[in-house]
Amino acid sequence: MCPPEHFTVDYVINPWMDTTVPVDAALAVKQWQLLHDTLTDLGHAVHVLDARPGLPDMVYAANGAFSVDGTVYGARFKHPQRSAEAAAHQLFYAGGPWTFADPVHVNEGEGDFAYLPGAYGGLILAGHGFRTEPAAHVEAQEVLGRPVISLKLVDPAFYHLDTALAALDDRHITYYPEAFSAMSQRVLRQLFPDAVIADRSDAEAFGLNLVSDGHHVILNTEATAMADKVRAAGYTPVHVELSELKRGGGSVKCAVAELRP
Ligand code: ARG
Repeated sequence: MCPPEHFTVDYVINPWMDTTVPVDAALAVKQWQLLHDTLTDLGHAVHVLDARPGLPDMVYAANGAFSVDGTVYGARFKHPQRSAEAAAHQLFYAGGPWTFADPVHVNEGEGDFAYLPGAYGGLILAGHGFRTEPAAHVEAQEVLGRPVISLKLVDPAFYHLDTALAALDDRHITYYPEAFSAMSQRVLRQLFPDAVIADRSDAEAFGLNLVSDGHHVILNTEATAMADKVRAAGYTPVHVELSELKRGGGSVKCAVAELRP
């Protein structure tokens, strides 16, 4: 995670961002801290990257890389405003027992990649259409050695995979079908017939931008209907208020890069 100390909305690279509405950076930090403490209270170890001035979106740490079983596929941001974030993430992994692969193709890390270790022996789901290039899906498969299923995102409001789909545990997912092309919806139905289906209002409340440890599902406070759905599926929803981070087009999942050593 990376604190939103320098968080602002100074540029527009997704439909949620509005430079005319001021961001309350102090509130953003407070809300972020509560998310951080919620994760540690649930027993998770959280590493914190130092925020850097001039990189207001660095709080969305999920975009910095994607790791599977000790191998890290680095990010390469689409927009120049965010490109310097990748090196900060790379530096973090250099300090640990990771094999780091520098990417050739544009990809925004866990924003567009999800991993399900218990599905089909270990399956990667990957989004394209707005940020990550399909060529990066092929590259990720070669770097990480897991099958990558390419899914096409079609709604600009849900520009990253993690705004429209989430892993609930090692092999179950939840997603908002209409964020995907008709044929990608078909692929998801075939692979995950038991998925928890979300609707547009769940996705707009950033209810799919969740982090799950397989039991607790941490999600934005606004996503109350989504909380009911995950509860009905047997998980325990835990709400965290992240109204300020929503102004940049992100929520819980965007703020957390999951480490798979
Ligand atoms: N403002 C950021 C961008 O548009 C938000 C990133 C949200 N992160 C995510 N994992 N969806 O790049």
